[in-house]
Amino acid sequence: MSERKIDHINLAKQSQTLLNEKDDRFYYEPMFAPHPSNNIIKPIDFVGKELRYPIWISSITGGTDLAKTINTNLAKAAKEFGLGMSLGSCRCVLENEDCFDDFNMRDIIGDQPFYANLGIAQIEKINKEKSYDKVHKMLKKLRADGLFIHINPLQEAYQTEGDKITIAPIDTLKKFIAEVKTNIFVKEVGQGFGPKSLEALIKLDIKGIEFAAFGGTNFTKLEMLRQENISPMLNVGHNINEMIEFYKDNIITKQKTLIISGGIKSYLDGYYYINKIKANAVYGQAYKMMKHAAESYESLQEFIKEEIKGLELAYSYLTIR
Ligand SMILES: Cc1cc2nc3c(=O)[nH]c(=O)nc-3n(C[C@H](O)[C@H](O)[C@H](O)COP(=O)(O)O)c2cc1C
Repeated sequence: MSERKIDHINLAKQSQTLLNEKDDRFYYEPMFAPHPSNNIIKPIDFVGKELRYPIWISSITGGTDLAKTINTNLAKAAKEFGLGMSLGSCRCVLENEDCFDDFNMRDIIGDQPFYANLGIAQIEKINKEKSYDKVHKMLKKLRADGLFIHINPLQEAYQTEGDKITIAPIDTLKKFIAEVKTNIFVKEVGQGFGPKSLEALIKLDIKGIEFAAFGGTNFTKLEMLRQENISPMLNVGHNINEMIEFYKDNIITKQKTLIISGGIKSYLDGYYYINKIKANAVYGQAYKMMKHAAESYESLQEFIKEEIKGLELAYSYLTIR
């Protein structure tokens, strides 16, 4: 105890708070709840399965040895904490099966939501070849619950070896959805979607949308960095707040599941956005999950435990303004 008291005296100076750092998104109400118990957060329906917490592990690429370690750690954590995950692009599984092991996570993740991922250029090619059986085969072999499709025309345009998109993504999606019966989510890769794109997506027969908004990992920027050629095009797009505003005006949105992602820095951002949007929503993170998963399973465990602890306190004491 006396050591704690000495710490109090020594740390008091550092413990002064700054008014301009106050998080003004919340009302703090300490009067109406005890410390949270384990069941303060109700399970969330995710396309017929359950998430114990509103946390999604966003798509992170595969195809190298490190990817296998990352995916294994992520799948293990999804099972331990009752979360869900989508894989990074599974193109190499579709084209040849050499990398299948990097993505083969069903035995590790158990029955938690587990989704494959392909890019829109690949979907365009599949439509052209009518090779839908390849997709069915891949989903079956992975025992995936469905497919995330990423829409990334800017990334492809700035990637030297990038694919040319020759058909408008909305038309490609409509054709593909009519042929492949699985649970489909559509996402961007760091630029988000404008209001018309979002409205068009909402009208599709898909299960949900992941924002992958501006403000976090941005794959257009990543490709520009690879080419050492930074263009102002990297700064276009929509952040989460803007996308929530676009989304609010759409009445049929209630039927879709949303993953709010793109620069989520902590559980407080996640808690704020999923409450602000008033839809069946969870928040997703890619970079942070990847960083910890690449370090070690223990590092990932600690990170997710902190997210859950913070979320539980937020559910107990914070309401959004
Ligand atoms: C290392 C890395 C690899 C990624 N690979 C993919 C991918 O293969 N397919 C995809 O749809 N998104 C991919 N993403 C993008 C994220 O899923 C997406 O931007 C996410 O929704 C928001 O990520 P953030 O939390 O890092 O901002 C990747 C992200 C990272 C950090």
